[in-house]
Amino acid sequence: MENNRIAILASGSGSNAEAIIQFLKGDPDMRVSIVLTNNPTAGVLARCERLGVEARVFSREDWKNGSVLKDLQARGITHIVLAGFLWLLPPTMVQAYPNRIVNIHPSLLPKFGGKGMYGHHVHEAVRKSGDTITGMTIHLVNEKFDDGKVLFQATCEVSPSDTPDDIARKVNKLELRHYPEVVRQWILSR
Ligand code: GRF
Repeated sequence: MENNRIAILASGSGSNAEAIIQFLKGDPDMRVSIVLTNNPTAGVLARCERLGVEARVFSREDWKNGSVLKDLQARGITHIVLAGFLWLLPPTMVQAYPNRIVNIHPSLLPKFGGKGMYGHHVHEAVRKSGDTITGMTIHLVNEKFDDGKVLFQATCEVSPSDTPDDIARKVNKLELRHYPEVVRQWILSR
């Protein structure tokens, strides 16, 4: 029963995309059908080639004129997983996949979320805040940045000597450990 067909949208390195692809390999209930990226130099492309997963680069034009959404629908995609994808989703896409789009964010939302809060900006802000705990959040996607219903959070400690890079590494570890399983459970519960 492979009727759950996942599209992963990613803009960067793709460590989360790879973890999900590996985790779901051979899963009888779902599979990653396609990886889409807006970034022709994204590391996720090399990962897909190595893993034998189809990947496609799309342009700003494709995104704006709705052809990315049409492509997802034509492929029978049932769920969208954002894994380091930097563009805000258009309302048409959110409405076409109600409660069927999930995102991961490298902080404990609602802290350090919203427009401009991605990658290093997040970890630098955590460092500056003096918080002693940070973590990651997996949440449903709505029409705003980092705003939908939270499905799962995991935490890690920030020690006084941690640089933003150290914090990023700790959070990424949590992401790779949890995102694949949370995605699987979320899809099975739909
Ligand atoms: C992750 O930290 C994720 O939380 C954020 O972007 C980063 C993506 O990393 N949304 P990668 O491309 O999966 O390695």
